[in-house]
Amino acid sequence: MQISIFALVSLFFFPFLLIHAQDVHTYVGVETCGMCHKTEKQGSQLSIWKNSMHSKAYETLKTDKANQIAKEKGFATPAVETPECLKCHATGYNLDASMLGKKFKVSDGVQCETCHGPGSAYMKVMKDKKLAIKNGLVVHENLEKFCVTCHNPESPTYIKINIEEAWQTIKHDIPKGN
Ligand code: HEC
Ligand code: HEC
Ligand code: HEC
Ligand code: HEC
Repeated sequence: MQISIFALVSLFFFPFLLIHAQDVHTYVGVETCGMCHKTEKQGSQLSIWKNSMHSKAYETLKTDKANQIAKEKGFATPAVETPECLKCHATGYNLDASMLGKKFKVSDGVQCETCHGPGSAYMKVMKDKKLAIKNGLVVHENLEKFCVTCHNPESPTYIKINIEEAWQTIKHDIPKGN
């Protein structure tokens, strides 16, 4: 009884709680994005990503080198179980299972949704860019600012990259006229 009164009172004072509950965007995983983003006509996003180091970022944490680095930094856990490493090398490792779709894999490392946001809602309305953004799609106006959220001296193996040149090696535009 107490609970239901609390619930009613909450809804009266905080109606946004209800709206927010319907608004949770979950991660669907790179395979799901790849369904519509793999042909040459669409821009081969899936294979460009697969061929990039981002797709291997989680696997990298399983190497001896990674474990050595983690140890030197004073972490007691293997690199691949260390949140301070995972935060730049993977997505979803720290989320409740209810946030992750069946096909989502943490082992996919830095994947589509790491950069574009959880896609359960926007992937249904992608043809309308504004609507997609309203449904959680993240686009990046400023690459310099975005890439350095991970490519910065907090990385134990930091190498300063030229963002513009680095982008040329992983860019995955939709071909014009599509
Ligand atoms: C059902 C098919 C479908 C799925 C699934 C899908 N997309 Fe898309 N996506 C599209 C279409 C269609 C466009 C618009 C292409 C165009 O403008 O020519 C698009 C556009 C985009 C854009 C460009 C937005 C812009 O206009 O700047 C991004 C980024 C994107 N998708 C990312 C993703 C990600 C990440 C996922 C997985 C979470 C995903 N898509 C899943 C069909 C899909
Ligand atoms: C979520 C964190 C994250 C973001 C955001 C990110 N990267 Fe990375 N990037 C990584 C990690 C981690 C690696 C190393 C993967 C490995 O070696 O296993 C990497 C590797 C790379 C590499 C390969 C470097 C090499 O020496 O081979 C390139 C190129 C690159 N990133 C470009 C970019 C660009 C351009 C952006 C912005 C559009 C970007 N990255 C955004 C985490 C990130
Ligand atoms: C390291 C971050 C990163 C990853 C990983 C990544 N993207 Fe992107 N993506 C970007 C950035 C940056 C842009 C260019 C600016 C923008 O539109 O946000 C972009 C642009 C796009 C576009 C629009 C291109 C255009 O012509 O407007 C699509 C479609 C897209 N990404 C889909 C994907 C899909 C699908 C995946 C996974 C297979 C993926 N991206 C993985 C960072 C990333
Ligand atoms: C701030 C983001 C960030 C954090 C935190 C981070 N990394 Fe990385 N890591 C990167 C990026 C970006 C790269 C690729 C370029 C570079 O080395 O800066 C990378 C590359 C690597 C590589 C491959 C480099 C090589 O030369 O072989 C290893 C191994 C690695 N990281 C291990 C770790 C370990 C272990 C931790 C935790 C102790 C960690 N990283 C924490 C961002 C990060």
